[in-house]
Amino acid sequence: MNNINSFVSGEELLLQERYKNDIRKKIQGRGYKAFVFTLGCQQNEADSERIRGMLKEVGYTITEKEEEADFLLVNTCAIREHAERRALSIIGRFKHYKAKNPDIVIGVCGCMTAQQHRSEQIKHSYHYVDFAFGTSLLYRLPEFINSALEKGKRRFLLDSEKPQIAEGLKIARESSYKAWVSIMYGCNNFCTYCIVPYVRGRERSRNMCDILAEVRDLAGRGYRDITLLGQNVNSYGKDLEGKPTIADLLNEISKIDGDFMIHLMTSHPKDASSEMIDALANNTHATKHFHLPLQSGSDKILKSMNRHYDKARYLSIVDELKSKIKDVTFTTDIIVGFPGETEEDFEETLDIIKRVRFDSIFSFIYSPRKGTPAYDMEQVPEEVKHARYDRLCEIQNEIANEINQTYVGKTIRVLVDGKSKNNENVYTSRTEGNKIVHFESDLDDTGTFINVKITRADTFALYGEKI
Ligand code: SAH
Ligand code: SF4
Ligand code: F3S
Repeated sequence: MNNINSFVSGEELLLQERYKNDIRKKIQGRGYKAFVFTLGCQQNEADSERIRGMLKEVGYTITEKEEEADFLLVNTCAIREHAERRALSIIGRFKHYKAKNPDIVIGVCGCMTAQQHRSEQIKHSYHYVDFAFGTSLLYRLPEFINSALEKGKRRFLLDSEKPQIAEGLKIARESSYKAWVSIMYGCNNFCTYCIVPYVRGRERSRNMCDILAEVRDLAGRGYRDITLLGQNVNSYGKDLEGKPTIADLLNEISKIDGDFMIHLMTSHPKDASSEMIDALANNTHATKHFHLPLQSGSDKILKSMNRHYDKARYLSIVDELKSKIKDVTFTTDIIVGFPGETEEDFEETLDIIKRVRFDSIFSFIYSPRKGTPAYDMEQVPEEVKHARYDRLCEIQNEIANEINQTYVGKTIRVLVDGKSKNNENVYTSRTEGNKIVHFESDLDDTGTFINVKITRADTFALYGEKI
């Protein structure tokens, strides 16, 4: 039995079904189209697939052209200032659609609108926005659309007091071979720079049986790449009765038939256990890529970030993964210019980067987030942050290029991702270690595994010939 309090009740979901019926009646026969703009991480991508699922259910056609939409929704991110600025500029651009056609409905959701000051800003400065709501209220989208169609009062809701999981929402998946599977929501870690715990609420895990049913269904339908999503998947199950772990979940997934890869997004080093590493190493499904956010190589900064591991512990996890999983690849997240970061602290980061030799790095210049502890700490000057960022990129590019050159001459299995944007006959694919491989072909093998012989490489990709 699981903690019943973690789930949205059947009655509440039934209420939303009634709103869906009301919308269907209102828009029937009108050929209404909906446009959803998604910013932010995979959690938001996954949420947008649920949003599109609900929209299709009530009769909207999904469009990629905002100018022809009757319903526009921006699913926002708040992780850095840049993400918020982009969201506000997109919302701003929607103004003239409403001016041309007052029947258009405009909504905003996601992490940015889970913050009071942003919700109020939209309410007061963007009068044409019909509603905005926080991340935990996603399942109430039908209710918000319905009241906007009735031209009722504008609605601005932050989040529920105790965010819960809504099971059973329809998912309109973008891809027919690559899928996100949320295994948990929220975060308990309160890293001092990060807004996520404030906008996504506390950790709550889905029931293992619901996750396994979803993975089984995807595998049965031929999905080839399944990413288990959560802000810290390593603490999966702590809130469930019986306390199943991420290792238990991986071991159960290992028993599911099908030719698919498994990715974890994201693992927190403080909870990376040997059981989890063993469950990855022994899995029947390829799990050869590990994203392990480091943030900083300095013990002092890691402490001030509230990360609960040090450089030595991080290196020992990397060693364990390298020794147990053959040809494992590593990626990481780095924050440059966290408050108090000195030249020596930054050099600790460069040192660990040279020691681990990551395949690639997502590096970010620290962006102060209102409401987080680091916002009030003494800031590093902008020009110092930018100079360090450039140095980090230069060193990492060299390492990535060296690693990529070692692939030349090898034949590797890749999952084909589709045509490259720039070149008609060139396809893009990913290795089991999540490295990008471009190759030429007259045949479209999108969504299948093929073998490619690598002929050359650069910092960002491998290039090869289909075998
Ligand atoms: N839950 C994941 C991270 C989610 S956010 C984890 O703990 O690993 C993705 C990345 O954004 C983080 O790893 C961090 O590197 C970066 N990030 C978060 N807050 C930031 C901020 N205020 N400024 C700059 N980068 C930030
Ligand atoms: Fe943010 Fe830290 Fe939670 Fe990741 S673990 S979402 S960085 S607070
Ligand atoms: Fe952004 Fe929210 Fe993800 S803040 S990074 S969309 S969890």
